[in-house]
Amino acid sequence: MTTYITTPIYYVNAQPHLGHAYTTIVADTYSRFKRLTGDTVRFQTGTDEHGDKIAEAAAREEESPKEYVDRISGMFKSTWPLLDIKPDFFIRTTDKNHVATVQKILQQVYDKGDIYFDKYSGQYCTGCERFLTEKELVDGKCPDHQTIPEEITEQNYFFRMSRYQQDLIDHIHANPEFITPERYRNEVLSFLSEPLEDLCISRPTSRLTWGIPLPFDDTFVTYVWFDALINYLTGIGYPDGDDFETYWNVAEHVIAKDILKPHAIYWPTMILSMGLPLYKKLHVHGYWNVDETKMSKSIGNVVRPAELVEEYGVDCLRYFTLREMSFGLDASFSADAIIARKNSDLANDLGNLYSRSTAMLFKYTDGIVPATVSTEDDTVLRDLAAAVLVTYQETMSNFQFHRALQAAWELISQANKYIVSNEPWALVKDPERIDRLHTVLYNLAETLRLLTLLLQPVMPGTCRKMAAGLGLAEDSPLVTDLKNNGGWGMIEAGTGLQKIDALFPRVETKKKKQQPAKQKSEKVSKKQKEKKKQKAEVAEGVISFDQFQKVELRVAEIVAAEAVRKSDRLLKLTVKAPEERVIVAGIAEYYKPEDIVGMQVLIVANLQPAKLMGIESQGMVLAAKVEEDGKSRLVLSTVSVPVPAGSGVA
Ligand code: MSP
Repeated sequence: MTTYITTPIYYVNAQPHLGHAYTTIVADTYSRFKRLTGDTVRFQTGTDEHGDKIAEAAAREEESPKEYVDRISGMFKSTWPLLDIKPDFFIRTTDKNHVATVQKILQQVYDKGDIYFDKYSGQYCTGCERFLTEKELVDGKCPDHQTIPEEITEQNYFFRMSRYQQDLIDHIHANPEFITPERYRNEVLSFLSEPLEDLCISRPTSRLTWGIPLPFDDTFVTYVWFDALINYLTGIGYPDGDDFETYWNVAEHVIAKDILKPHAIYWPTMILSMGLPLYKKLHVHGYWNVDETKMSKSIGNVVRPAELVEEYGVDCLRYFTLREMSFGLDASFSADAIIARKNSDLANDLGNLYSRSTAMLFKYTDGIVPATVSTEDDTVLRDLAAAVLVTYQETMSNFQFHRALQAAWELISQANKYIVSNEPWALVKDPERIDRLHTVLYNLAETLRLLTLLLQPVMPGTCRKMAAGLGLAEDSPLVTDLKNNGGWGMIEAGTGLQKIDALFPRVETKKKKQQPAKQKSEKVSKKQKEKKKQKAEVAEGVISFDQFQKVELRVAEIVAAEAVRKSDRLLKLTVKAPEERVIVAGIAEYYKPEDIVGMQVLIVANLQPAKLMGIESQGMVLAAKVEEDGKSRLVLSTVSVPVPAGSGVA
């Protein structure tokens, strides 16, 4: 099988930040996963170097555009190895090949009659590098850049996008996985339900010279999207290269939601006009915020990946981003969140399992993997490993990286329990139970091998270390070949372990400053007053209809659910109601996260947000409180038939 995976090509008007890093980590992880399954893979990223924004940025830096793009493109190129990201090809839109092919395609589409010259007047946003429709503006501003677009009238060339609208709609209906996750597919279909306007694809050279000249009119250059999107073809040698033949029909693009329209509408209609088959899939993820706030230069909260690598290590960053973001939804970065993941998931769970298991192997069998006698006692661990493998492959293939990691962590947690319940330290003292000890140690070594294999796409460096510790070569099929070695019992008895350093040193957290006493007591008394007031209200026992009407109840659809760190009681739910929000609910004792995704529940939508275990909860989920045998449990309230998410409750 063959895989071709791409990231957007990043504008060189800014240096790489966490958002760029995430998309590229995703594509790198997916390409590594596909290699594990035996696919021939091509992974492409690069830089987008033409257009107004770039010309302006170069002028600001007092550099020529060429000097400027070389410098910033170089920064992107040199950032990726720091994150252990290994693209097969790095494309630049100033590459000669790319320029020549863009011109060839423009001529072809022009000759076909799909490009025409016309007068145009519209609201142009420099940030988006495109004209915005009236409908897209919010309070007269571009919603993404919060700027008032410029009214521009000029003659330009247009691409007949509208001609391909119906073909595109038909394709999306016939191929439900063309755009994923589903929310973005729906967004595109809803946009396509209105007539499409044709796409302006040029700029007069009187206004912009930093672009590719139109082959049929050199007083114009191409508008940025007609240039940039074509990189996905030029990078694989379109039209004559072998790689084009090999890879085009399996092309998968990863982007964030900001460039959904260009990728889901402009690009497919361009491809249809060229007479090529459409790309296979578009994977769309959400946005990284920082401490719940939009990342922006003006706020000064831009997170640089190189600094995170320095502070936490490359694999911690890769793991954190993939584990913390549910692909498709927004996520928030904070130092607390990454430290918590490092200390709890990496140092405590994975790191401890590795060091405990290998320490026992060194102590009890001189660092040699012992032979095993298979017994019924171990089926729980083995069955779980088999189930994890299935979930892992399915979720990794579907870009649900957080779920794949959750599954791997179930195996880690089961293996930690296995140690506790089998007590190897007791077995070693009993000469009659040495066989059992060997079996337990073998199973632990095998679990570590399997984890090395599964975690390799996410944390390649750590897995290289783990493989070395298990006495396996970095490229041993036992840790690089999922197709043949995903099963149980592959590590050979007699394999000699090597001592390695701890995988993840813990990060010491600074203690929070004590609040000054006075402030504290002020707070307490305010709280007490509030409580008193509430008590007085509750004592009356009844509420008026007016009071009841103030409570806004809605139907919400659970789109993601996960356990809250350090809490046995809480689950963090991401719901659609219809806007997306996070609700922290005390239902962990009664529901597994994976069982409630997709469920429609009732929520109180207008409750003042409250922080629970550091997570802001924007509402409350309703549940029946059932008393049985002196115990109580919660049963989520739901609707009897599916209804649109966000429906009110009367
Ligand atoms: N040059 C165009 C893309 C052309 S592709 C044919 C462009 N460049 S960009 O530099 O603005 O990159 C946008 C992409 O960067 C997003 O789609 C996403 O991959 C990544 N991100 C930028 N900021 C982001 C976040 N805050 N969060 C997540 N990803 C984001 O658009």
